[in-house]
Amino acid sequence: MDQCNVRFLPDNLTVQVSSATTILLAAGKAGIQLKSGCGGKGTCGACKVILVSGEVEVESTGNLSREKIDAGVHLACKTKIMGDITVEVPLESRLAEHQVLMGSANGLLSEKEINLLSQYGLTPLARKISVHLPEPSLTENGADWPKLNIELKKHLGEGKIDIPLGVLRQLPDALRVGKWQVTATLVELNDRYELVNVEPGEQVNPPYGLAIDIGTTTVVVYLVNLATGAIIDKQGTYNKQARYGDDVITRIVYAVDAPGNLAEIQAAIIGTINELVDSLCTKYQVKPEEIVGAVAAGNTTMTQLFLGVSPKYVRLEPYIPTMNSVPPLRAADLGLHMNPHGAVLNFPSVASYVGGDIVSGALVTDMSNGDDLILFIDIGTNGEIVLGNRDWMVACACSAGPCFEGGGITFGMRAMPGAIERVEIDAQTFDVTFKVVGGKQPIGICGSGLVDCLAKLREAGIIDRAGNFQKDLQTPRYRQTHEDKEFVLAWAHQTPGDKDIVITENDVKNLIRAKGAIYAGIRSLLRMVSLEVEMIEKIVIAGGFGNYLNVKDSVQIGLLPDLPVEKYDFIGNSSVKGAHLALLSRAAWKEAEELGKKMTYLELSAGNDFMDEFVSALFLPHTDLSLFPTVEG
Ligand code: FES
Repeated sequence: MDQCNVRFLPDNLTVQVSSATTILLAAGKAGIQLKSGCGGKGTCGACKVILVSGEVEVESTGNLSREKIDAGVHLACKTKIMGDITVEVPLESRLAEHQVLMGSANGLLSEKEINLLSQYGLTPLARKISVHLPEPSLTENGADWPKLNIELKKHLGEGKIDIPLGVLRQLPDALRVGKWQVTATLVELNDRYELVNVEPGEQVNPPYGLAIDIGTTTVVVYLVNLATGAIIDKQGTYNKQARYGDDVITRIVYAVDAPGNLAEIQAAIIGTINELVDSLCTKYQVKPEEIVGAVAAGNTTMTQLFLGVSPKYVRLEPYIPTMNSVPPLRAADLGLHMNPHGAVLNFPSVASYVGGDIVSGALVTDMSNGDDLILFIDIGTNGEIVLGNRDWMVACACSAGPCFEGGGITFGMRAMPGAIERVEIDAQTFDVTFKVVGGKQPIGICGSGLVDCLAKLREAGIIDRAGNFQKDLQTPRYRQTHEDKEFVLAWAHQTPGDKDIVITENDVKNLIRAKGAIYAGIRSLLRMVSLEVEMIEKIVIAGGFGNYLNVKDSVQIGLLPDLPVEKYDFIGNSSVKGAHLALLSRAAWKEAEELGKKMTYLELSAGNDFMDEFVSALFLPHTDLSLFPTVEG
């Protein structure tokens, strides 16, 4: 059979695929995003599905237990469809309900964002100018474009104006249809203007722009009215590249593995953005041609994949990206659903692991405009950290691993409905209470819950400072299995499944390594500039995980510096907020370009103090308790 029907339950969605397609790819085609941590190698076990009926060819069962195999569980990435089949996709294998961090909750700008915008000034990337040209005659017979150029310069001043061939082709008819009145849409670039559209007559519709955050996991797009600066709406979804792996490394490996893969993975991110743009355009009846500018921010690998530039050397020592800054591009070069002549700006990156998303975040912190020492941290798979003020900035990236996003933890998951996000443990009875995202029954535990959990396990004396479980704990929640020691956070009857949700000693050790890496990164930056933690005026935390973080517990475990809670600030998705700011203000965009150049990158694997700091941080909260006076107390 060449074509097979694949029915997915409980969604009841059917797609047709060629025989020998994997279930993972078929699910993607059906719009069901499966977890695929290892990028389809069959090693992570994240893409489990249950075969209800039909014929398949199993390439590998990975580390599935006999029990699971007997129950019909298959690895979607290693199971080929050989006939019409029906497959059930369990909740825990799906990416679909992940919370996409959209920036401000309601589309309105926060007071801080409004202040920042008024500080830089509202000078959007594109604007419309309506002009009237004198009608030509046999004696006044100059060409169309020079005459329009002169008229536009009366409004713009002396900057050079470029006109692409496609707009040149529109021009003669637009002038004559409009009886010598046209509305020109111009994009303002650093050293020139570009005429991206001409319309006959006087047009009052505003130009539109896009602010785009290209996250490794999720993608967010704001549709912005460039005349007023208002966000029309925002939408977010999964990065379709997730089917090639959860993290940047597996995606790089895929992109460079075979000819055609780079184009495929680039098409996945362009497709993700285009779907969001199409949805916004349909909802607000905006024509894609009316979108004339976009600003995108992403980490270095995401930016290179977005542009179709191989990220091969980002991953190989000495970790060199192809470029730090990208000249303005035209939308048509990338295939974005907007005016083909529209400009696409990409935030500059600093190094292979400190990308445009961090520069965008630093722009939003406003750290480059004040004397106060600010520490900016974006905690994800990589903990990216920037320290500095208006005079200098240093930055580093520490591989914290995927723990805080739920990776490498027995019941770890991202912050989606069903994730335990807060934990309390009674030190006397060891009873556990928890709060679950979406108020549902728990199915796992997300980053903020893990931080809480580690702090509460230590507070209750269940683990020691090195993360070892104490022997002889008098509670049925503590048990030793043949694999590991574990503590029960939720009994099976409290969950929708049939298993207790536990945290194991190995999970605890992984978490300690992750928090140790971030704290060691902070200390390394401080040592680089010979400053102490107490000199930090403000700590700004970005990212999905950071948004739900409990500062007190984070200090308790030694993840964050022991400074008063008032010094902490959470800014959510700073990447898209910076892109929005840069879309609306030429001065902010220039500042972003300067920021990229200004940050000095500290490579933590290059023989500095990081390893010593890391080893010292592998305790709760730290080997040196004087660094955590409130915890010691
Ligand atoms: Fe299928 Fe990892 S086992 S994606």
